[in-house]
Amino acid sequence: EGLDMLRAVPRTRADAPGFLLEVQRRWGDVVQFPVPRPTTFLVSHPDGVRRVLQDGHKAYDKATVQYRTLSAVSGRGLLTSDGELWRRQRRLAQPAFHDRTLVAVAERTGAAARRQLERWAGVRDGAVVDVDAAMMHTTLDVVGGTFFGADLTGAGGAGGGAGTAQGLVDAVLAALEVVVARARTPLPARVPLPGDRRLARALATIDGTLAGVVAARRARGPRPAGADPDLLDLLLAATDGDGPMDDRQLRDELVTALVAGHETVASALTWTWHLLSRDPAAARWLHEELDAVLGPDEVPGHEHVPALVRTRAVLDEALRLFPPAWVVTRRALQDDVVGGYAVPAGSLVIVSPWVVHRHPGAWADPERFDPARFLPERRGTVVRGAYLPFGAGPRLCIGRGAALVEGTLLLAALARRVGLEAVRARVGVDALVTLRPRDGLPLRLRRRA
Ligand code: HEM
Repeated sequence: EGLDMLRAVPRTRADAPGFLLEVQRRWGDVVQFPVPRPTTFLVSHPDGVRRVLQDGHKAYDKATVQYRTLSAVSGRGLLTSDGELWRRQRRLAQPAFHDRTLVAVAERTGAAARRQLERWAGVRDGAVVDVDAAMMHTTLDVVGGTFFGADLTGAGGAGGGAGTAQGLVDAVLAALEVVVARARTPLPARVPLPGDRRLARALATIDGTLAGVVAARRARGPRPAGADPDLLDLLLAATDGDGPMDDRQLRDELVTALVAGHETVASALTWTWHLLSRDPAAARWLHEELDAVLGPDEVPGHEHVPALVRTRAVLDEALRLFPPAWVVTRRALQDDVVGGYAVPAGSLVIVSPWVVHRHPGAWADPERFDPARFLPERRGTVVRGAYLPFGAGPRLCIGRGAALVEGTLLLAALARRVGLEAVRARVGVDALVTLRPRDGLPLRLRRRA
């Protein structure tokens, strides 16, 4: 069996989610990989997932290759830190994600949706557009505004160049690309690689841009009355008995927010369009709701969210089939037992939402795109531990609420006005930091009357 599994390993590069799914299908819900160190498990049963991420979470931390790799870019921010540091940062950051923030996110999303619709208005009906690029751009527009307000907005919301949101995010994406590539080579860290200089340049851009933004914000003094605070305002103001966070920590949390909160939302929307483009009946079902809830030129706001139940269900189902965060990892701090298997201290535990979301014991017809699974009246039937696009337990995504508001409103605003049809027979999946379509996602744009 070990040999069989080793023979499948070359596939992990080309199709890692597919490989993990095959491992679960062939060998079961808790599988130990035939590798020497660290002892490595794939846990795919909803109960096992809950054990590792929720009920037994105290026996695990995030000292894994995955999070060490990310922390080369994001430092010791919320996503990658553990213990006392994580607890304090979560307490300090939590208020930045409360209800008022969601209203601001909705406003900014509406503005970004209008700009995207304007860009598409210049495209002739029936033309092919790269929806992946469009979603990266629109979600960057939202992030630029809700994280950094006007300071990094540049002309047109997300324009290019150093000192703009686009310049900063390009640097973050470049840095991630290098560290992910490095993590995939078996070479030790001291062996220099061609990407090293690119990484150094990207990190210098990130640090320089953020230092400039923070300094400008500190110099500006109090926010104009009535203006909504952005993430930077809220993190600058956050304080506890030990005072506010220092500049290094602030930098790490801002980069973390970019790493965790931009490409993930874009990926979710891109795969949503992909699924809708292949399922005209589902697209019609969605359009029925949008035409009932929104006027012909209306872009939805926060007040529309409760009425957009089908829109939200489409997004939830896309997050099931294409969870942007397709793998999460933990290290066992002590001996544990998961699904009847002994997991020794020091083990690496891999949980893949891609696999869990297709668990045959938890989902009927798991490969089928069926948004109605997530209608409010059926949500209660979802097996606990079987749905984790945002993780679970104390390390649950802090941006979940914001991401769902942003995703629902962008989808509604855009799908009200355009339909997007498939043009490629097959779309390959690149599993990097998030799931991305290989070579973009070209779709044919149809204007809706
Ligand atoms: C954590 C997914 C949007 C910030 C997580 C985790 C997942 C996830 C699975 C848990 C990782 C683990 O347990 O190892 C997603 C998806 C998103 C999204 C799929 C969009 C569709 C956002 C947004 C932000 C954000 C918009 C905003 C800043 C974070 C942070 C953490 C996190 C800071 C670490 C939380 C902690 O450990 O305390 N996310 N996320 N995410 N996410 Fe998100």
